Amino acid sequence: MKISPDVIREKFGDDYMADERTFIMGIDQRFTKHFAERFTGLKVLETCTGAGFTTLSLARTARHVFTVEIDDSNQKKAISNVEKAGLSSHVTFISGSILDPVTVKGLPLFDAAFIDPDWAVTGPDHEYRFQQSNTLPPADVVLKDMLRITDNVAIVLPPFIKAEEFEGLPKHEREKLYLGESHELYCLYFGGLMRFVGETGFHVKI
Ligand SMILES: C[S@@+](CC[C@H](N)C(=O)[O-])C[C@H]1O[C@@H](n2cnc3c(N)ncnc32)[C@H](O)[C@@H]1O
Repeated sequence: MKISPDVIREKFGDDYMADERTFIMGIDQRFTKHFAERFTGLKVLETCTGAGFTTLSLARTARHVFTVEIDDSNQKKAISNVEKAGLSSHVTFISGSILDPVTVKGLPLFDAAFIDPDWAVTGPDHEYRFQQSNTLPPADVVLKDMLRITDNVAIVLPPFIKAEEFEGLPKHEREKLYLGESHELYCLYFGGLMRFVGETGFHVKI
């Protein structure tokens, strides 16, 4: 299905490239701008790029964004979208899996990490979990890996996870993000990205 330019513009802010999948998994600009504020002036490692809708917001606030993506066709869209926004000099695209030690070894030094794994499987019977996560890459694994490199990590997660699953993680802020009354996402912030300890909320009025 082709997504209409109006719908893309409304969610992401301009006539960017997106197919059905990268449109659905792309985060609304009202949330990405909010996440990006906390990365102001930092060198950020983003995983995973998708078609680059979080990359665009991060590139506008961060000192530089290094962004890792496993899927070449998604990465091509992200490169085109970042070019369209005139932000290419702020972003370095890296092809590969964030789970591959070779990719991780090749990463430059960064101040903070932003993780947005793919929820991949959906459907009425699908159970969203954080532990033994079934996102791609698995959220629990990639979070642990990133926390080994930096204390400053933010990770976006589906809204349906039971909050008890976050017990045992290092001290963090657990932000619930709402569009109107609808709980759309969680974002967990660690280290210097955390503003409070415990649960907070971010509400977009519609
Ligand atoms: C939820 S999307 C990211 C969306 C993006 N933040 C946005 O707002 O447009 C997740 C992306 O992770 C990529 N991905 C899945 N496994 C990965 C891995 N092991 N390493 C890097 N990227 C991966 C998928 O191909 C997909 O493009």
